[in-house]
Amino acid sequence: MSSRPLASLSLPLGALSALVKAGYETVADLATASPEGLAEELRLSLDVAQRILLLMPKPSTVPSTPFLTQTAAHLAKGGRTTSKITTGSSPVDILLDGGLPRGHILEISGPPGSPKEVLATSIVKTILGFQEELIFVDMQNMTSPSTINKLSSNAKELVYYLKLHALVDVMIFIRNLSRYLAERPKVSLLVLNSLSFPFQMAYSLSPSAKSSLLDQIKQVLVTSCASRNICVVITSQLATKLVGPDGNPSNFDTSGSRGIMVPQLGPSYLPSGRSYRLILVPDGRDTGVVRLLSSPRQQPNNGRFRQEPYVLSA
Ligand SMILES: *[C@@H]1O[C@H](CO)[C@@H](O)[C@H](O)[C@H]1NC(C)=O
Ligand SMILES: *[C@@H]1O[C@H](CO)[C@@H](O)[C@H](O)[C@H]1NC(C)=O
Repeated sequence: MSSRPLASLSLPLGALSALVKAGYETVADLATASPEGLAEELRLSLDVAQRILLLMPKPSTVPSTPFLTQTAAHLAKGGRTTSKITTGSSPVDILLDGGLPRGHILEISGPPGSPKEVLATSIVKTILGFQEELIFVDMQNMTSPSTINKLSSNAKELVYYLKLHALVDVMIFIRNLSRYLAERPKVSLLVLNSLSFPFQMAYSLSPSAKSSLLDQIKQVLVTSCASRNICVVITSQLATKLVGPDGNPSNFDTSGSRGIMVPQLGPSYLPSGRSYRLILVPDGRDTGVVRLLSSPRQQPNNGRFRQEPYVLSA
């Protein structure tokens, strides 16, 4: 990622000063910015924000790996006996040391337009290839039943598709999950698509109520993953967090503060011994990097992460 100063690019002066005021200094600082997020943060028009991001130089990264690599051969082997399931994405499988282990959780965060849902549905495809059942909960109209049905001819029989948009409905489902799973013993994957969205829409939720709900989710995830050995895949939005020069949380008054993008729900709802957290950082329409924020064996460490470039192939 480039540490080239933004001031060295031919940005419109107004845009440059807005960026610098908001704490952005280098090309790398803007790596995860979305046009929508930037427009809102800097109070610019969406058009101007888009043009700023288009002016960013493309990082001269190592050759990128195709994002999705599902092949029939990949899918033919496996089943309940395989302890790790391929995500269908080679850069992601590399970061997960071969795939997502059964009984584990994968959180995928990224800005709008990043291939979060592509990755989640690719894991769905692996599970369908094993002839196993799964529950797909859509919380933001991001992935329709017809998208899932197109993945495989057996999707209609193997997928329990739920649309839950209000936080209260999501929580009822979560609290009932162990009963729900007990009635569906063949389920081996739960997808919570756009889990951050119902929280984002619950404007009046107090921080303490929110953290209590997140804690309930964590308890349920621990139990389901441990007792039933199912995988959970969660997609989530990013939020901007301000950090000071020392990397600790700060505010706009601290000099040298800058905005970094972090998963919107924070780490508290994830059992750390069973969870992998990924961020997708697009740097173009079809390219970017996948970053491993944390894994059961590797906790966040001084902002240094393992990452792999990807390229979306049609
Ligand atoms: C999802 O789509 C339905 C029907 O198209 C619409 O009524 C609903 O408001 C949408 N919900 C969200 C959260 O976008
Ligand atoms: C909980 O799950 C069980 C089993 O699937 C179902 O019969 C019941 O209606 C669910 N309860 C609620 C409140 O969703």
